[in-house]
Amino acid sequence: MIRLRIALAKGRLYQPSVERFTRAGAAPAGDAGRRLLIPSSDPAIEFLVVKPGDVPVYVESGAADLGVTGTDVLRESGADVLEPLELGFGACRLVVASPAAAPYPELPGGITARVATKYPRLAQSHFAIAGRPVDIIQVNGSVEVAPLLNLSHWIVDLVDTGNTLRANGLVERETILCCGAVLVANRASQKLKLDAYLGLMARLALGEPWSRA
Ligand code: PRP
Repeated sequence: MIRLRIALAKGRLYQPSVERFTRAGAAPAGDAGRRLLIPSSDPAIEFLVVKPGDVPVYVESGAADLGVTGTDVLRESGADVLEPLELGFGACRLVVASPAAAPYPELPGGITARVATKYPRLAQSHFAIAGRPVDIIQVNGSVEVAPLLNLSHWIVDLVDTGNTLRANGLVERETILCCGAVLVANRASQKLKLDAYLGLMARLALGEPWSRA
């Protein structure tokens, strides 16, 4: 039997991913708990649960055949993978934000802005394309606190409801990227296991509201 190993990201994409695969007939067997390789109700599919930033790494290398990741993490990784399916959940935006009371985009005295972010590549390229020099400061979470503590002037981070920005006195200044969950696939594995891929793709699309037209 040809098996497909699918990398799922821990965190906010995990539950919607599980629901989607369950509707497609591949329900993960039990809770992930501490187990990181999980069989499913379809013996031809097993899941691997990893940190969001690692999904593109596992899929690009072929350690996983497929994965679910956000386009934010995917573009930041630069991984060379196929993107056969948008999954329709996990919508958010990658934005530049800064304190509501501070001038934007010019800073007093013409100093170079420091920008805190978990997305150094996307942030760097956004400002480079615009010809605006900035200093990128890489952090791994709780980015919104950086301007409050003078670690940075601005941040580049994800916005969903906007609650985290508001709670920290920040406002959106520019949108860099609209993001959402996508299915990604290893290039070689997609060719070698084509029938299994196409079957899974059809099952994932089946029964979704946008497939009923
Ligand atoms: C994400 C993101 C923002 C927040 C945005 O953080 O980095 O902080 O969610 O959501 P909102 O607009 O609905 O408030 P996450 O919860 O993943 O934690 P992290 O910042 O520690 O990575």
